[in-house]
Amino acid sequence: TRPLKVALLGCGVVGSQVARLMTAHAGDLAARIGAPVELAGVAVRRLGRARGDVDPALVTTDAESLVTRGDIDVVVELIGGIEPARSLINAAFESGASVVTANKALLAGDGPALQAAAEKHAADLYFEASVAGAIPLLRPLRESLAGDKVDRVLGIVNGTTNFILDRMESSGASYGEALDEATALGYAEADPTADVEGFDAAAKAAILAGIAFHTRVRLDDVHREGITEITAADIAGARQMGHAVKLLAICERAEDGRSVTARVHPAMIPLSHPLASVREAYNAVFVEAEAAGRLMFYGQGAGGAPTASAVLGDLVAACRNRLTGGLGPRESAYAQLPVSPMGEV
Ligand code: HSE
Repeated sequence: TRPLKVALLGCGVVGSQVARLMTAHAGDLAARIGAPVELAGVAVRRLGRARGDVDPALVTTDAESLVTRGDIDVVVELIGGIEPARSLINAAFESGASVVTANKALLAGDGPALQAAAEKHAADLYFEASVAGAIPLLRPLRESLAGDKVDRVLGIVNGTTNFILDRMESSGASYGEALDEATALGYAEADPTADVEGFDAAAKAAILAGIAFHTRVRLDDVHREGITEITAADIAGARQMGHAVKLLAICERAEDGRSVTARVHPAMIPLSHPLASVREAYNAVFVEAEAAGRLMFYGQGAGGAPTASAVLGDLVAACRNRLTGGLGPRESAYAQLPVSPMGEV
């Protein structure tokens, strides 16, 4: 069987782990896919920095030429941000490749357009790693629960802010110390404003709400408050009252089913609630569905290797489809429900 060719765009915290795992698990990946997977090229912004174990001969700064060279089966986009990621993903579809991405900001704005582009070119767009890192969450929502009706998704989807709030509570660390630690551990975004102001969680809430309710939700639709106003005294006060402070993402279908709401804000949670015991950079998401009832997903929501695990799972799915001619979940039949941030229509 011919090897499947993969182009990796971005070789930072997550990308370098994807490259490492592709090599370390090459035999298992080939067995699970039914053909060997070959890293055909790695596009980076600047040459010269150490890139883990990546063969220097594969590294290029010309992402566009790599994506459009014509023999790539799957493009793995881990650059982040809107451009050039969006143009490169569209170029990948035009060139006949499928795409795996972890790009929250892009999906929260352009997810439906990108899904439409994938469908037009009979390609796949997988993005499990965009929400809650290693935790299998989008695939269960899109596939396992496809025959159920999801009413509510509620959870901690930003590791950096959970780490900061946890450190402030448990070790009395200052906000700045905790943020520096989260950055050093590879949890925070390149610009941690996206984490602490709630933009990262809001992008994930938009993606989750769109998938859960089969509708279009954009970042602008999500009511957002971050954690920058939270003080150590707030956290200690909440604790005295038997509560923890957590940054929550809440996506709900209105009772009449005619609109959805999505919001991100700090919330006081009773210490007896399972979400209160989510520590460090872990994430946890509750899903309430009509027939399934309440489900909880828990695990590492940030960091290189955990996020790479989700990317690799998507890569296996996309590669299998290339071999069989199959396609992943479709979202062409969107119901366009109005989105009202705080619950009013
Ligand atoms: N900065 C993000 C977080 C990374 O802290 O959760 C994972 O999306």
